[in-house]
Amino acid sequence: MHSSNINDGLGFFDRESLIEAELEALFQVGRVLSRSLNLHETLKAVLEVLNDQTGMERGMVALRDEGGDMMHIKAVHGLAPEMIAEVTYQAGEGIIGTILEDGQPMIIDRLDQEPEFLDRLGYYDPTLPFLAEPIIIGKLDPVGVIAAQPAAGRVMLLHERARFLKMVANLIAQSVRLSWEVENEKRTLTNERDQLRQAVQGSYGFDNIVGHTQAMRRVFDQVSQVSKWNTTVLIRGESGTGKELIANAIHYNSPRSGDPFIKLNCAALPDNLLESELFGHEKGAFTGAVNQRKGRFEQADGGTIFLDEIGEITPAFQAKLLRVLQEGEFERIGGTKTLKVDVRVVAATNKNLEQEVEEGEFREDLYYRLNVMPIYLPSLHERVEDIPDLSAYLVDKIARQQGRKLTLSDSAVRVLMRYNWPGNVRELENCLERAAVMCSDGNIDAQAIGLTGIEDKLYGATSAPKSAAPRKRAAVDFDDPEMDERERVIAALEQTGWVQAKAARLLNMTPRQIAYRIQTLNIKVQKI
Ligand SMILES: Nc1ncnc2c1ncn2[C@@H]1O[C@H](COP(=O)(O)OP(=O)(O)OP(=O)(O)O)[C@@H](O)[C@H]1O
Ligand SMILES: [Mg+2]
Repeated sequence: MHSSNINDGLGFFDRESLIEAELEALFQVGRVLSRSLNLHETLKAVLEVLNDQTGMERGMVALRDEGGDMMHIKAVHGLAPEMIAEVTYQAGEGIIGTILEDGQPMIIDRLDQEPEFLDRLGYYDPTLPFLAEPIIIGKLDPVGVIAAQPAAGRVMLLHERARFLKMVANLIAQSVRLSWEVENEKRTLTNERDQLRQAVQGSYGFDNIVGHTQAMRRVFDQVSQVSKWNTTVLIRGESGTGKELIANAIHYNSPRSGDPFIKLNCAALPDNLLESELFGHEKGAFTGAVNQRKGRFEQADGGTIFLDEIGEITPAFQAKLLRVLQEGEFERIGGTKTLKVDVRVVAATNKNLEQEVEEGEFREDLYYRLNVMPIYLPSLHERVEDIPDLSAYLVDKIARQQGRKLTLSDSAVRVLMRYNWPGNVRELENCLERAAVMCSDGNIDAQAIGLTGIEDKLYGATSAPKSAAPRKRAAVDFDDPEMDERERVIAALEQTGWVQAKAARLLNMTPRQIAYRIQTLNIKVQKI
């Protein structure tokens, strides 16, 4: 008597053809399991192989949660995942739970003769045999159970079939072990990542931005207000006033803080490279584009992109940027697919963008797009009262970097407060670092500050009094006819910490021109 569902032409009605079919099935099971680490998916495919190749019907795999007693059904052949989602077994409970507890296989001739059987699934055929094997990793307690019913009408050979099921259980055990290992690894990495993130968030909190003057308090207020929203922010201020620091604070105090914060200095790259940095490129888009590459906008998806020195981009590039800011859409270079991203834009500039707009150097529409929420950082000479706190903070920071104790005398602070700091906080930091390096006992006093050279440039110490209208910029007069070209370029580079794009601005040159001068004047570029 053959019921209709088993007469599928597989034709193993004796021991030999059964073993042959099982071998083929084992081969396929191995292949299926190595395909992916998604157990839900692979186990389902394994059970399908058992059913189709060897007539082991209604296959079921249940696995213990790692470290727990409870077992969840992962897959049942012929049942939709929704129907099994809720079914669980406790160790020691019914046939399946008993196998989990004592690790012994179960061979039952007819299911309805087994009083222990719970049939939680309500799915098994009570007139058929039932085979179940523990899934065991090494010498540990079983991690799960695999069970199935041999189809009616075939050769039963229950012990042979149980042996086969055991081999399948072994293969599954290897996959489970691997998948748990990968899960653990992932968990460790995620924990590490979260800890690093917290550390980063900590170092970009407001605690690390020093300032109690009214001008700075206003900045803090604006940052904490604007952080909550997705508004585009334009950070304005002279070089070294802390624009990047504020950009970090905005991101790490925003709801996007768990997502990427991607920075790009727009002054550092020519148009074509800038475009491929920001938008990415497809393989073969241009010579050297060997692989497809994601741009910074894609990397920043869900998070924030910081476009530093936004005032430096060419009109051609301004048009390209405008589209992303307006639509959130772009294509990779050489690509046809339009990509859409959710990115919050924070930009910074030390340029007078209004004037640039007037002179036709900066697109007006882009200016309005960016200037939604401007934050102005005061220059240091506008907040002299912050110098004592800032100096103390920076000296601490330098002491940590140098791994020694440093102190700053009151007389030193008084000298620092008399200087006008054209390079703002960055210049103050550099000056203190130089002073620290030069004083072997670690006590930075007025004399140590003097050795850094700033004393020559103190207010009142130079011939023209500067206190009424503090200089906007240089401590060095770049139009000084006494200076030769080489000295001028070096002085500009020194003042800008050897950032060529900035030095070029001081000298009213393009980045390309200064690069050319550096080369022809044989200036050795310092790495800082
Ligand atoms: N209020 C502040 N409190 C503590 N440190 C500060 C503060 N402002 C700036 N700094 C420090 O000064 C240095 C320069 O700051 P930052 O790089 O943010 O300036 P910037 O405005 O981006 O300059 P640039 O226009 O030259 O790029 C950094 O080391 C920063 O940590
Ligand atoms: Mg900066």
